[in-house]
Amino acid sequence: TVLVIDFGAQYAQLIARRVREAHVYSEVVPHSWSVERILARHPAAIILSGGPASVCEDGAPRVDPALFTAGVPVFGICYGFQAMSYALGGVVDRAAVGEYGHTDATVTEPGTLLAGSPEHQSVWMSHGVAVQAAPQGFTVLAHTAGAPVAAMEDPSLRLYGVQWHPEVLHTPLGQQTLENFLYHGAGLEPTWTSENVIGQQVERIRAQVGDHRVICGLSGGVDSAVAAALVQRAVGSQLTCIFVDHGLLRKDEVKQVQEDFVAATGIRLVTVDASAQFLGELAGVTEPERKRKIIGREFIRAFERAARDLQNEASADGQPIRYLVQGTLYPDVVESGGGDGAANIKSHHNVGGLPEDLQFELVEPLRTLFKDEVREIGRELGVPEVIVSRQPFPGPGLAIRIIGEVTPERLAILREADAIAREEMTRAGLDDEIWQCPVVLLADVHSVGVQGDSRTYGHPIVLRPVTSEDAMTADWAHVPYDVLSVISNRITNEVREINRVVLDVTSKPPGTIEWE
Ligand code: XMP
Repeated sequence: TVLVIDFGAQYAQLIARRVREAHVYSEVVPHSWSVERILARHPAAIILSGGPASVCEDGAPRVDPALFTAGVPVFGICYGFQAMSYALGGVVDRAAVGEYGHTDATVTEPGTLLAGSPEHQSVWMSHGVAVQAAPQGFTVLAHTAGAPVAAMEDPSLRLYGVQWHPEVLHTPLGQQTLENFLYHGAGLEPTWTSENVIGQQVERIRAQVGDHRVICGLSGGVDSAVAAALVQRAVGSQLTCIFVDHGLLRKDEVKQVQEDFVAATGIRLVTVDASAQFLGELAGVTEPERKRKIIGREFIRAFERAARDLQNEASADGQPIRYLVQGTLYPDVVESGGGDGAANIKSHHNVGGLPEDLQFELVEPLRTLFKDEVREIGRELGVPEVIVSRQPFPGPGLAIRIIGEVTPERLAILREADAIAREEMTRAGLDDEIWQCPVVLLADVHSVGVQGDSRTYGHPIVLRPVTSEDAMTADWAHVPYDVLSVISNRITNEVREINRVVLDVTSKPPGTIEWE
C-alpha cells in the first residue's frame, strides 16, 4: 500500500486515484497519525500531500523527521514537499513571487524523478512559500521563477519532492513524475488491477461471511449492483437481492435490473412492486420535503418487510440471514473521518436509516474503491453496461423531477421525454462530459403552443445538463445547440403533452442540480 498523508489538501484523494491509475494500491490517511501508526501499516511508499497551511507559521502541521529515516520511500508534494525540506534542515521561506496556476519549470537535472522530462515543462503551482535551499545531500532537479528548489531528490535515502501538483491534469507530465517515483524511486510493480481487486475482495467476503446468508438492496444504480455482483461471485446463492420498485424509476430501468442484470449475474432477486403504495402515499403532495420524507419512509417500510419475510423463511430453514451488503465507496469513507471505524455513521446513513432491530452486520466490498474503479470492476463482472455507466440518479427518483403532484400520467410523460434526452446525449457522445442531466416536468405550468394549425395547451419540460466533479458544485453543461435542437424536436414531436423545451443555465450554487 502507498499511504497518502493528507495535510488538508483538496487533492489528497486525487493523488490516491492517480497512484491507483498507475496500478499501485493507495489509501489516504490523516496527517494526525503518528509515525508509529503510519509505519505499523507497513507502507510500500508514502506520499505527503499538499495542504492549506504555511510551513513558516506556528501551529502548521509538521512531519516527524523519523518518517524519513524508516527506510520507506517518500514523495513530498507542495506542502508535503516543504514540510519534508523543513524537517530535514532545508530553508523554507516566503517566495519572491507567489505562483498560482500554470508555471514554467526549468529542469536542470532530471534525476530519477523527472526522467524523460524536457528542459522546460508546464506545471500547476499553488504556493506563496518556497524551499530556498534543499536539505543536505539532496540534488536540486528544477526551479521556477518563484521556487529556487522546485524539485529535489536524494535517491540514496529514496526521498523525493516537487513544489508543483503532479496529480492534476493541468500538469501534463505529472503522471509520468508520479510513476517515476512509484516504479523507479520506490521500486514498486504495477500489480493493482481490477482482476486482482476482484480476487482479493472475493477472498475477503468469503472469509467474512462464511456459510451465512446475505441480503442486498438494489437501487438500480451502479454501486449497489456492483457490490451485489461481487458478493454473488464470492458466495453465490447465499445472497438474495431485494429490489424495491417504487414506481419512480426511469424508462426501462426496472427491466434492466429485473431481467438484464439477473441474466448477466445469476443473482437471486426478490422484487417488491410497491409502486401503488408509493403513488397512493404521494397523492396530492406537492411540497418537495414532504415528497422526500414519504418516499424515504415507504422505502424503509417496503425493504424492511421484504427483509423480514426473507429472514423468516431463512430462519425456518435454519439459515438465518446475518449480513447486509452496502455499496459504500471510498470517498464516503474518507469524508466521514477516514480509515478505520469512523465510517459506520455514514454506512447507516446510506441504508436510509434501517432500524437497529434488523440487526445485520455490514458487508461493504467497495469501501476501498473509487467510482471509476467500481465501474471497471462492474464491467469485469459482466454487469450490463447500461447499469455500469449510469449517471447519478436520486433515491426519490422522478418524484422530485415532477414539479407538482406525482401521478401515473405525469410519470409516463416524464419517462418518455427523459428517455429521448438520454438517448440523444449518448448518441452525441456526451456521457463522459456530462455529470448528469435531470429532465424536469413543470407539471403545474401550462403554455400555449401551435401544432398543425391548432392551438395546444401543454407543459414545458426543462433540460438540466450539468458538469461536476462531485455534485457539491456544478456548472450548466454547454451542450452543443445541434444536440439541443434534436432533443427539442423529438420531445415536442413524440411526447404529445409537451409543447415547449427549455434549458436550465444555472450553476450550483445558487441552483441545486435537482429542482426539488
Ligand atoms: P442537488 O440537487 O442537491 O443534488 O444539487 C446533488 C446530487 O445528489 C443527487 N440527489 C440525491 N441522491 N438521494 C440520493 O441518493 C436523494 O435524496 C438525492 N437528492 C439529490 C442528485 O441527483 C445529484 O447527483
